Amino acid sequence: MKHLFQKGGNPDNPTLLLLHGTGGTEQDLLPLARIIDDSANVLSVRGNVLENGMPRFFRRLAEGVFDEKDLVERTAELNKFLDEAAEQYEFNRKRIIAVGYSNGANIAASLLFHHEDSLLGASLHHPMVPRRGIVLPDLSNRHVFIAAGLNDPLCSPEESEELNTMLVQAGADVTLHWENRGHQLSGAEVDAARVWYGALYK
Ligand code: MLT
Repeated sequence: MKHLFQKGGNPDNPTLLLLHGTGGTEQDLLPLARIIDDSANVLSVRGNVLENGMPRFFRRLAEGVFDEKDLVERTAELNKFLDEAAEQYEFNRKRIIAVGYSNGANIAASLLFHHEDSLLGASLHHPMVPRRGIVLPDLSNRHVFIAAGLNDPLCSPEESEELNTMLVQAGADVTLHWENRGHQLSGAEVDAARVWYGALYK
């Protein structure tokens, strides 16, 4: 997968996996990584799917309606890429924390839903429920931060609550952070993610 990697202060430091929103690139979330942990390794990946020229991490049939087969395949592809990247760049595969926005948050949530050991934690900015009707793996010892907008037209507060509940029922420790805004990624929620991360991983 197209990506960039930046080495952190120490090879055993956590690795932030950056996953952009629809139409983004691997450059988009680099400023967030610096705010959240400037000594972490950074692996920033570009989605392999194009929708009218816009990179994404999996196909959708309509806005908010996911192509489930593609979602499952692309999630496995990303998980395998993480294995390969950890070997190539010699970072600790067990210490990956995803930071995803919108479509990138959705595939990060899908990693947690489908691959038990894919992520140590995740900061999900404006995620949706990636899939329903499956049994989630045991997510105890996984920490998840969800930033949601009270007026998000793509992801309703009910859907954010639903995702929270699904993750908690699977054993994850979840912090649900609300912004009185829409789907945009705000400075305040990045700051809250930094505080959440700092208490757990620094
Ligand atoms: C998705 O397709 O993943 C969501 O609708 C968010 C987005 O617009 O990318």
